[in-house]
Amino acid sequence: MKIVVVGGTGLIGSKLVTKLREQGHEAVAASPNTGVNSVTGEGLRDALEGASVVVDVTNSPSWEDAAVLKFFETSTRNLLANEAAAGVGHHVALSVVGTERMLESGFFRAKYAQEKLIKVSSIPYSIVRATQFFEFVKSIGDFSTDGNKVLLPPALIQPMAADDVGSAVGRVAMGSPLNGTVEVGGPERFRLDELIRLDLAARQDPREVIADAQGRYYGIKVTESALIPGEAARLGETRFKDWLKQSSKQARKPALQSA
Ligand SMILES: NC(=O)c1ccc[n+]([C@@H]2O[C@H](COP(=O)([O-])OP(=O)(O)OC[C@H]3O[C@@H](n4cnc5c(N)ncnc54)[C@H](OP(=O)(O)O)[C@@H]3O)[C@@H](O)[C@H]2O)c1
Repeated sequence: MKIVVVGGTGLIGSKLVTKLREQGHEAVAASPNTGVNSVTGEGLRDALEGASVVVDVTNSPSWEDAAVLKFFETSTRNLLANEAAAGVGHHVALSVVGTERMLESGFFRAKYAQEKLIKVSSIPYSIVRATQFFEFVKSIGDFSTDGNKVLLPPALIQPMAADDVGSAVGRVAMGSPLNGTVEVGGPERFRLDELIRLDLAARQDPREVIADAQGRYYGIKVTESALIPGEAARLGETRFKDWLKQSSKQARKPALQSA
């Protein structure tokens, strides 16, 4: 089966392409780096020829309000129009748990617009909403840093490994279209401040993390449960502490090899 992974060179996309190829599928990584641009339309028609499934795991190069909205709207419209012309039978997109609860943010308004375009299109679809990736946790702390302090709201968070996201998206892509949304999350819940403290400690980063009701998640106010998935969510297996151990081992490898 030919599956086109748009954004197939990114964090999730590259893992997904590898997994699909391991299962014997013809997985094509489509992105500007491989000559396919879902915003300008360059290379799209050829890439989609003969495809049964298209998976959209793109991300916008800019998260500025107008730019990110334009990216997801234009890219999604182009993908869906080209999929209709190519006879693609399943459009799968990766979105974020709680998107509709965070519309104060331009990024989430753009993801919401992306989801809406998919839902009203003629292409059978599945939307996979994932929680925050472990790989993204560091940037949550960095965004809320002021000097040597990190100020965060005491919200709950249930992050997951990018590898588990790739597996979950792959399973959905190989199934029948849901014409609906499925949530995926990690196996454990943390308080945001607790999670960032664990992440900083593993990196021996001396910043102090403070839970503060006035703190912001990526610049916006969130309620205690805004980031967590519902009870029906499919859960990944990788635990944050195991992932931290594994990734710090990997980070040390080049240094040891060159020593
Ligand atoms: N971060 C999180 O915690 C989180 C949580 C849930 C869901 N998500 C969603 O997961 C998705 C994937 O995230 P990610 O971290 O894997 O992204 P990423 O690593 O930043 O990769 C983005 C991908 O999009 C491609 N791309 C950029 N502009 C493009 C264009 N004009 N046409 C085609 N492809 C284009 C890039 O291609 P090049 O390499 O060629 O530039 C790259 O392959 C995003 O939609 C995000 O909203 C993220």
